[in-house]
Amino acid sequence: MGRGRAPRDDVAEVLVTGQQLAEVVDRLARRLTADVGDKNPILIGVLTGAFVFMADLIRRLEFPLEADFICARSYGDGTAAGDLVIEMDVGRDIAGRHVVIVDDILDSGQTLGELVRILQERSPASVRTCCLLDKPQARTVEFEADYVGIQIPDRFVVGYGLDLGYHYRNLPFVGVLRPEVYRPAQD
Ligand code: IMP
Ligand code: MG
Repeated sequence: MGRGRAPRDDVAEVLVTGQQLAEVVDRLARRLTADVGDKNPILIGVLTGAFVFMADLIRRLEFPLEADFICARSYGDGTAAGDLVIEMDVGRDIAGRHVVIVDDILDSGQTLGELVRILQERSPASVRTCCLLDKPQARTVEFEADYVGIQIPDRFVVGYGLDLGYHYRNLPFVGVLRPEVYRPAQD
């Protein structure tokens, strides 16, 4: 990203507008309210990408809940499960609790699939997964989220929490960058 240039100047195409995102978050909030509104669930946002979505989502939920975060990073090439590293864990025991994992995007399916497996080992009452974006064509492992905001094509997107090299998380929409931005800098 060029120094001094506004992030949105690097955007080639807006895939999901801010207005559409708000509608999607509202719809997910209604479904979560119906399913876990009476369960005092723990919502666990997957850092870093989910922090914007999580912040908007929990403010649409008008029932008792606990918000927490987990930082998980996958070091594989996306083709094999099992190489997920928990870099920061949730701050509490989830045994007997209803858990909703909140993530930004379902791509290969590796991260969420592995996270569900890891959290299931801690004997929660239930584990649900809620993903804002879904790229169904990118899946390398068999995994589907319980709640999906919106399906998008298999393209690398940024904004609304999603980054390229730590940049672009502050864009208020989800978009695709101009091709030259994805290429490594020559200088
Ligand atoms: P997975 O491939 O489903 O395990 O996704 C792993 C993580 O990669 C997601 O939670 C995102 O943080 C990140 N990711 C996947 N696709 C994109 C994208 O298009 N833009 C930005 N981050 C992405
Ligand atoms: Mg993520």
